[in-house]
Amino acid sequence: MLHGKTIIVTGAASGIGAATAALVASRGAHVISVDITTPTHPVGRFVRADLSDPESIDELVSGLPGDIDGLANIAGLPPTKSPEQVIKVNLIGLKYLTQSLIPKLADNASVVNLASLAGLGWPDSKEVIDASASLDFDEVEDFCRVHGIEGARSYFFSKEALIVWTMQNRWTWRSRGIRMNSVSPGPVDTPILKDFIETLGARAEEDMRTMDRAGRPSDIAPVVAFLLSDEAAWIRGTNIPTDGGMYSDVLCRTNHF
Ligand code: NAI
Repeated sequence: MLHGKTIIVTGAASGIGAATAALVASRGAHVISVDITTPTHPVGRFVRADLSDPESIDELVSGLPGDIDGLANIAGLPPTKSPEQVIKVNLIGLKYLTQSLIPKLADNASVVNLASLAGLGWPDSKEVIDASASLDFDEVEDFCRVHGIEGARSYFFSKEALIVWTMQNRWTWRSRGIRMNSVSPGPVDTPILKDFIETLGARAEEDMRTMDRAGRPSDIAPVVAFLLSDEAAWIRGTNIPTDGGMYSDVLCRTNHF
């Protein structure tokens, strides 16, 4: 049930964010759409913000109302962008926005993070994920250099760390009923799919061969909408693969089942 809820959707100008904003609005939510790009047909109220910039996030948060029932953190950059920008938008800015918004969230609010199948390797990245725990915007460049995060690795790392951060926050705001989960799509047909194929090359092509079809924004938006609803109240700190079976395929093949 989303009727009457106030939901913030970042990345609402395109792809999965646009589909989620439209879907939750169609279910009766008051949507506040956030993006760096002004959408042609914004859903609800639109606020322009650059989620790689803490000042822009502060300005966004100060202009938002209180009693927000849901935050869908969907804005993201593909691995064709610089590692610094990818980590700032996909991880540091997302965490900063969420933490800044906690005082404005209503009790029992839901936070949903758009992670990715690209984050499935998180168990192998403990040391670097730990090192990023309190990373600030102006430390990202050094962090990438020290930890050898170059090219597409930035995208994988941002999603690995996001899945772990989601799990770590399973009970952080439990006294107020605020919960956080993530959704991990496989390849979805949006404007950034070509960026993945371009950067990941053979691996992306292999993924596309394994799948019967690419995902669509309309495959992902209902899962985000469900997690935003009260019906998902007992789901906490969980990552939900939404990928046509690809995560299970990788697990079964890796473990010889
Ligand atoms: P998209 O490119 O269609 O939408 C991303 C949106 O984020 C755009 O509207 C863009 O303007 C916005 N954005 C980028 N930088 C921003 C910034 N600095 N501040 C504010 N907004 C910014 O991409 P898509 O596919 O809809 O991606 C949505 C999320 O889903 C991303 O987090 C992405 O990593 C994730 N994802 C996408 C997959 C795919 O194959 N398309 C697969 C798995 C995860």
